[in-house]
Amino acid sequence: MSGLKIVMVSSEMTPFVKTGGLADVVGALPAAIAERGNEVCVILPKYADIKAPMELYHSPMGVWMGGVQEWCSVYRSRLGDIPVYLIEHDNFFNRHGLYHDTNMTDYEDNPRRFAFLARAALQLCVDKNYSPHIFHVHDWQTAMLPAYLATWDWSGTSLAYSSSLLTIHNMAYQGKYHKNNLNYMGIGWEHFTYDKFEDHDGLNMLKGGIHFAPVVNTVSPTYAREITSGQGYGLDSSLLSKGHRFGGILNGVDYNVWSPEADNLIPYNFSKENMDGKWGCKMALQDTFGLDRNPNEPLFGVVGRFTSQKGYNILASTIEPLMHRSGAQMVILGSGDKDLEGFYNHMAQKYPNRFGCHVGFSESLAHLIEAGSDFFVMPSLFEPCGLNQIYSLKYGTLPIVRATGGLNDTVANYDPETGNGTGFKFYDFTPEALFGTLAWAVNTYHGRPDHMQQLRWNAMSSWFGWNMSAEQYEHAYYLALQ
Ligand code: ADP
Ligand code: GLC
Repeated sequence: MSGLKIVMVSSEMTPFVKTGGLADVVGALPAAIAERGNEVCVILPKYADIKAPMELYHSPMGVWMGGVQEWCSVYRSRLGDIPVYLIEHDNFFNRHGLYHDTNMTDYEDNPRRFAFLARAALQLCVDKNYSPHIFHVHDWQTAMLPAYLATWDWSGTSLAYSSSLLTIHNMAYQGKYHKNNLNYMGIGWEHFTYDKFEDHDGLNMLKGGIHFAPVVNTVSPTYAREITSGQGYGLDSSLLSKGHRFGGILNGVDYNVWSPEADNLIPYNFSKENMDGKWGCKMALQDTFGLDRNPNEPLFGVVGRFTSQKGYNILASTIEPLMHRSGAQMVILGSGDKDLEGFYNHMAQKYPNRFGCHVGFSESLAHLIEAGSDFFVMPSLFEPCGLNQIYSLKYGTLPIVRATGGLNDTVANYDPETGNGTGFKFYDFTPEALFGTLAWAVNTYHGRPDHMQQLRWNAMSSWFGWNMSAEQYEHAYYLALQ
């Protein structure tokens, strides 16, 4: 099967612009789908910070919203063989934050910005007389597109037979705003009903997208089960109503970017046959954070957004006990919640030789932490897929995860009898359960070097390339066309 025309529409894409895993997915999945003989392009907003080379492609482009016409321009860039189109609209996108300002306050015009993005993506195809089989959209930001496709009249245009697929990367973000935004969006009030856009008398963009998209998926099988059984942030029944048109497709990772053999952001490369470089990376990581250069104690790495999803609040309660009851070291990279930023900075001041904290976003530091740590900690409350634990596996950095969502699907728990497994799992979302597992890892590191070696080998042998997921997405596209 092949030969489909796919237009991906997204609010992020590595390496153009990234706040989290969505960008990594949209940066890698298109190539994997194209490799199967399909034609794929991506449409993104042209944010202020995108620096990639690009050329003007289509200007001016008029986009009708509800009774108002917006004017914009479209630029063309590429990522490898994948064309990337960037929608320029200064008022909506020429700003530094993607979704919120530096105080983490959501931009008030988000519903209008992203509804416009969805409409502009459709308009670009109409203007260029391009007929995609599928618009593949991601999260609430582009969830309006399936609604436009279903509720506006496209007969006589290039979109007359187009369908769509909505991928949900996180149920915690649904795009909930005041219902009056529907007027600007150009969505009729007959669709402001409980089964479509209405949510406690407000507008829920993701909910409308779920209703109108012919097929919906999320990014791991376990998360698909969780969000249809009580953890769907109020949308469990909307998802259940899709029947077999909803399911989980596990993310892949881009091993051209995230593997110790190919990584050009780390000081030493290594492989499972020759691990010397890893110990060099560990030392470089210790130096970078000003920790003691200690090759004999385990080093825990942490990278992620400081939000309640990631479980860094329970991690916070384990730091002092870990410092007092072991010789372990830890480094953490991330930003978000100001209290957590303050706390981890404070720990770094209190234990400067053993605890390191960098508040901010740094791609190169994220790679060094993956490469140089012995263990990678992800104590998430929920995790739709999670990419860092999959990256960790390839670097022989054993993941320590709570058994939820994609973390559950990608990490095999260590069996102390046999040495089988690829990491360490815990179940209760409590500091005690996490601390017990950190201590288990420390003890294994010191007491079972043979098993540590075996676990690293197992982890580095695992494979989560995009090829398998791409095949499943192709099936989902065909389902959306039926
Ligand atoms: P989520 O999308 O929920 O943030 P994922 O694990 O899917 O979680 O993906 C997170 C991605 O963002 C990873 O590539 C990770 O390395 C990156 N990342 C998160 N925070 C930072 C940071 N502070 N600096 C650099 N990269 C980061
Ligand atoms: C979301 C989720 C994360 C997932 C990523 C990519 O941001 O929080 O678990 O890996 O999207 O799908």
